[in-house]
Amino acid sequence: MINIDEHTITQAVIDRLDGCDNPRLKLVMTSLVRHLHDFARDVRLSESEWMTAIAFLTATGQKCDDKRQEFILLSDTLGLSMLTVAMENDKPAGATEATVFGPFHIDHPPEFRGGDNISGGASGEPLFVSAKVIDTNGKPIKGARVNIWQADAEGLYDVQHSELTGHQARGILFSDEHGAVDFQTVLPVSYPVPTDGPVGQMLLSTGRHPWRPAHVHFKIDAEGYQTLITHVFREDDDYLQTDVVFGVRSSLLGQYVRHEGGKAPDGRTLDHAFYTLNFDFVLANLVAS
Ligand code: BEZ
Ligand code: FE
Repeated sequence: MINIDEHTITQAVIDRLDGCDNPRLKLVMTSLVRHLHDFARDVRLSESEWMTAIAFLTATGQKCDDKRQEFILLSDTLGLSMLTVAMENDKPAGATEATVFGPFHIDHPPEFRGGDNISGGASGEPLFVSAKVIDTNGKPIKGARVNIWQADAEGLYDVQHSELTGHQARGILFSDEHGAVDFQTVLPVSYPVPTDGPVGQMLLSTGRHPWRPAHVHFKIDAEGYQTLITHVFREDDDYLQTDVVFGVRSSLLGQYVRHEGGKAPDGRTLDHAFYTLNFDFVLANLVAS
């Protein structure tokens, strides 16, 4: 086909997908082309604006390395990550809701035992977490692999501290026969997502703030159950309604209770303030396929 114009080009591109023998890929590519072209027609995208966008995407890729994932950040701040999470998480009633993964997860952090302190020297006020992993009937799940990660009092993850060689405020614990997972860490605080790259520029140019409400991340795997990737947010945070990555769900608000010293959950008597958090994670059964 020649003499293509703005009205005929979309179908011309879609016709070229005739030879694609992967039906899902063909469906996705067809829809992508349709929506991309409609978007360009809708805003009357100029050549120079498209070049600016290509420079932005190039810079986004160039900002990525083994510790920094600017494309995930872009997807998160555009709400695309949370949209995919929301579409895939029609869990049974009572199961804990999922939220965004974020870019700071590590698959093999240090392993700890019940009651251990996972902070590794991270800055922050002490927090004692008593979690439980149960199924939708309330039955404890033993041996669940619980991967935890969070930012410190400066609002930074360990991987963002360039001088750090070890891990801080992250680790893996396994639930005991009561489904219990108890550990000490530091109180999470609200923090801005990294703004020193193209995504930060995008947020600035569009008048958006970069803040996430305080939270601790959890990824929980147990045999026979759906993997749960979620956070527990501080219910008193100022950014709950305007989370930059749209990840807050009311069911994920936790009560981080402040204690002005006294007997801590680990049996010690503390002469300084500490916090406690109790939270139950309810896993959904694997759907038989
Ligand atoms: C996080 O919670 O770690 C996170 C999520 C999305 C973007 C940036 C950070
Ligand atoms: Fe986070």
